[in-house]
Amino acid sequence: MARILLTARLFDAALEPLSGHEIFMPKPEGDLTTEEIGRLAASVDAMVCLPTDRISEQVFLSAPRLKVVATVSVGYDHVDVDAATRARVVVCNTPGILTESTADLAFGLIIAASRLMSASEQELRRGGWTKSRPDSYLGRDVHGATLGLVGYGRIGQAVARRAVGFSMHVIHHDVIPTGLPGYVAELDDLLREADVVSLHVPLMPATHHLIDARRLRLMKSTAVLVNTSRGPVVDEEQVAEALESGRLFAAGLDVYEHEPTVPPRLLAAPRLVLLPHIGSASFATRLGMARLATSATAEVLAGRRPANTVNPLVFSR
Ligand code: DGY
Repeated sequence: MARILLTARLFDAALEPLSGHEIFMPKPEGDLTTEEIGRLAASVDAMVCLPTDRISEQVFLSAPRLKVVATVSVGYDHVDVDAATRARVVVCNTPGILTESTADLAFGLIIAASRLMSASEQELRRGGWTKSRPDSYLGRDVHGATLGLVGYGRIGQAVARRAVGFSMHVIHHDVIPTGLPGYVAELDDLLREADVVSLHVPLMPATHHLIDARRLRLMKSTAVLVNTSRGPVVDEEQVAEALESGRLFAAGLDVYEHEPTVPPRLLAAPRLVLLPHIGSASFATRLGMARLATSATAEVLAGRRPANTVNPLVFSR
């Protein structure tokens, strides 16, 4: 019987794969600090964590028994994977299962931002809708617009499928040439051409502030920017500045650089839809993600190699 640290409460149905093991969940609300996780990891064989936990090198250095860390997320930028590999700890994530839900949300943001849904609703709630005028609440059409997808992995492609149904013209950029119709080799060219830019890249040093002041200036002043990937992929201050000055028509953000903190300048920026990182937050998807993470944990504890291993190198050592 292994001892497994859950850094937060998961759905009961997601715990089935771990039956027969000892589950240890000191803070069900999920507010363990990195230091606490490091201390607790010392006495466990496995850990199931969330993207809001920071699993640093220190955690791996202080956990001699640890065999697997499974994160309930597709993104694993919060886990020091190199340190895990050095410590021979398997890291697993939850790819695939959240693709469609996240694409739904990204597409929702594309429509909501383009059509100023959030700003109009806020005005209605404030009692500001006193008369319907031909020129009020004017947004940009989604149909017929050119959608530029930055990152063309599973989620980017799922957004593209939705866009076709909305009569959008779809182009995409990825660091690895896709050889597919609509591929644009230079990100800057895609930014110049797109009416809507939607970001679907993982966070890594090369994508930190990928959308910075210079790149925002390349975009059309009528363009809409949507980010459902990771907050640090855009420079938030510059996005706020571009919206305030009118150099960017609108934006929709689901992710932030220092979650759950949203900078006051973003909160006050015009024509901006803000969501609290809910890309994968549907009942079915969150349950599926949790179950995938616990199943991978059980696999590793049983001496098997889960398909969703982030650092397969760990098995060749
Ligand atoms: C992920 O899986 O990486 C999402 O951002 C978490 O909801």
